Amino acid sequence: MDHKKYIADKIKAEGVSAEEVASALAVPPDPKMGDYALPCFKFAKVLRKSPVAIAAELASSIAPDDVISSVEAVNGYLNFKINKGGLARETLERIAAEGEKYGSSDMGRGKTVCIDYSSVNIAKPFHIGHLSTTVLGSALYKIFNFLGYRAVGINHLGDYGTQFGKLISAYKRWGNREEVEKGGIHAINDLYVRFNNEADEEMEREAREYFRLIESGDKEANDLFEWFKSLTLAYVEKIYKRLHVTFDSYAGERFYTDKMTPVIKELRQKGLLKESNGAQIVDLEPYGMPPCLILRSDGASLYATRDIAAAIYRKNTYDFYKCLYVVAYQQNLHFRQFFKVLELMGKEWAKDLVHVAYGMVSLEDGAMSTRKGKVVWLEDVISRCVEKAYAVVSQKNPDLENKDEIAEKVGVGAVIFGALYNNKIKDITFSYDKVLSFEGETSVYVQYTCARAASVLEKAGENFALPAQFDLTDEESEVVKCLAAFPATVVDAADKYEPSYIARYAVDLAQKFNKFYFDCKILTAPEGVREFRLCLTSAVLRVLKNALGLLGIGVPDKM
Ligand code: ARG
Repeated sequence: MDHKKYIADKIKAEGVSAEEVASALAVPPDPKMGDYALPCFKFAKVLRKSPVAIAAELASSIAPDDVISSVEAVNGYLNFKINKGGLARETLERIAAEGEKYGSSDMGRGKTVCIDYSSVNIAKPFHIGHLSTTVLGSALYKIFNFLGYRAVGINHLGDYGTQFGKLISAYKRWGNREEVEKGGIHAINDLYVRFNNEADEEMEREAREYFRLIESGDKEANDLFEWFKSLTLAYVEKIYKRLHVTFDSYAGERFYTDKMTPVIKELRQKGLLKESNGAQIVDLEPYGMPPCLILRSDGASLYATRDIAAAIYRKNTYDFYKCLYVVAYQQNLHFRQFFKVLELMGKEWAKDLVHVAYGMVSLEDGAMSTRKGKVVWLEDVISRCVEKAYAVVSQKNPDLENKDEIAEKVGVGAVIFGALYNNKIKDITFSYDKVLSFEGETSVYVQYTCARAASVLEKAGENFALPAQFDLTDEESEVVKCLAAFPATVVDAADKYEPSYIARYAVDLAQKFNKFYFDCKILTAPEGVREFRLCLTSAVLRVLKNALGLLGIGVPDKM
């Protein structure tokens, strides 16, 4: 049940709508004050009364019932307490019935959300900087699907540009097939780096010629390009598999080659194109931005041109409700610019394009992060985290079976959770010790709580059901309230594009459960109480799994 809505419907005050009341209702920081509080000063102007008078009047007009156990006016606030037993029964029954669907909804039915994330560049291995876009985008993908939207995951491959001419030139000079097959993406990247270090004028000219050959459909150049692309995809797919990341489309920049001509025509027809030093631009000065470059003086298209074509293609193909771009904040201007160009073209849906910007990730271990310009590859971060997880888990419980499998879930989970726990726009410093701590605000802590709950349930066997009558301790009541808040948390996470809300929720629920676990006996509690506590434990395990699942994190049965 939506308690805010329930309370809002009880409040009758002229000029104040139930929606306004529902959105003003807040959860007081101290549960002793109540479960919900209505700050009446918000309505003082409309009602032409003091907050204190409003609170007093409303308090006397609402009678407690099965849902609301008390209403009290305190200093201009109206404090509500929810009937604990009723809430517990309703919540636990719902979780038992809905299971892995608890928290989902069909609010997004009929709406498509395109999510552009990870978007790798051909021949460039993933470094730590690619972590956020990949796991944030993937979590949003899972969250929107869970809410009934059709999410379309798009990997907007960086597969267009003169760098591929350079790559072919470098390969022809120094590469050989066997070595590249063996070394995969790192071998190609080495060739590319070497080209940039050694290139002279002649080599640059040659690279431009190779790029032209790719563009004009030359077979050899295209075969080489496709080979580099397939090596890149084979490499990233291994990482995606470990991180539980999937896509529905790999339509990259090159896919839009033949889709730009109509866009340029349209821009011209609408009088938006201007010449500037031989280049074609859209002037954005009236909007306080530098011009958006559409065609270079040699007629070549740009990153923004392809993004404009891609947005139009996505609208035509998916008729999206929203199109999200999960890309670092360094590209803020790029997104503002091409969103504006689409708006100027008269695409009313330009308002549905959202740049989901995020901050930088760096490694705490400076020595490892840049050794003489050497970047940290994401696969190394994952492997190292899994190795460390193995050690941490074995130390805690040396008799565990399937340690490898558990270490994979714990280590990979820690990498994902480490990137998702903070508000996405914050720059973060990744620390192995921090993300693998059993005590901190970590996935390991949450997973360990799950293992604890699972072990209690295993000892209890299958035979328990919610008793007809029960009373709740404060600790139990806190757990119940938190369980009941999960569906709204998922909605908030989607609204704000913040998977961190779910990560924080999981830690909060785990903490509340642990407080209950240490304060209340479960297995040895008297009959009735024992059954209630087992139901509560089982609900916590279910909801923690649902929450971590939305982030792409698995839960080991034992730890
Ligand atoms: N490949 C680009 C990069 O590495 C990111 C692409 C983001 N998506 C987009 N539609 N621009 O910077």
